[in-house]
Amino acid sequence: METTKFIAISTQKGGGGKSTITELLASFFAYSAGKKVEIFDCDFPQHTISKDREEELKELETNTAKKALLEKAGIKPYPIHSYTFHVCLEEMEKRLDDNCDTDYVFIDLPGTIKDETLLSIVSGLDYLFIPAIASTKEVRSSLEYAVTVQQNILGKFNLKSMHVFWNRFNRYSENSVFETAMAVCEHQKIPVMEAKLEDSTKFNKTDFISTILPFQKKFFNQTNVIPFIQEFVTIINKPQEN
Ligand SMILES: Nc1ncnc2c1ncn2[C@@H]1O[C@H](COP(=O)(O)OP(=O)(O)O)[C@@H](O)[C@H]1O
Ligand SMILES: [Mg+2]
Repeated sequence: METTKFIAISTQKGGGGKSTITELLASFFAYSAGKKVEIFDCDFPQHTISKDREEELKELETNTAKKALLEKAGIKPYPIHSYTFHVCLEEMEKRLDDNCDTDYVFIDLPGTIKDETLLSIVSGLDYLFIPAIASTKEVRSSLEYAVTVQQNILGKFNLKSMHVFWNRFNRYSENSVFETAMAVCEHQKIPVMEAKLEDSTKFNKTDFISTILPFQKKFFNQTNVIPFIQEFVTIINKPQEN
């Protein structure tokens, strides 16, 4: 049996799309790809994902159409746990037990790596994906994070795979900031995902980004979400060297 894989969409800065993309991917794997998924929400104090789930469950109490849709689809929402860093580490250990049938644990982390326990969590990941936005401040913090992880963690612990991806990409994004960042990544040998997620209000819509509803392809025309997920699946299915 395959062991549980730990995945984080993470960077130092808030607002890059960590929680949004985590929810999108977790729901895709759980409800469209038949995987057993859990989310560890360690992003104290926001706990965005736990709050999103609470709100969605609350809405179900009055929205009978949505409730019927879920029942028809036979969906059992995947668990979302709010954990401190210490509990997160303990629970990661437990998931590595032979009897655990969870395929993917997505971990939502706060925007820092200046904490030893948090460093241990990042070290214990299998896959790290770092969102970048093509504006000076945003891109700088994403690249600083990538370089720090590359120099201090990648290949030394469990983590063997790190990718940067572009989020909130639009027609103004192919600017000098973007070009410079791509050159830095090439120079530092930091892999960048081909598929860039477009800047779109669709990422703010509750039924589009949901922790309880199945992923719906039709919502995501012109956002590049589909190629992004395909590329993501390819990356995490690639055998890792030990
Ligand atoms: N590709 C995108 N296009 C437009 N808005 C986006 C996109 N990705 C994320 N957002 C929005 O950006 C805001 C911050 O995203 P969030 O996932 O909460 O960031 P983080 O968890 O990194 O702080 C949210 O309002 C979200 O809907
Ligand atoms: Mg967040």
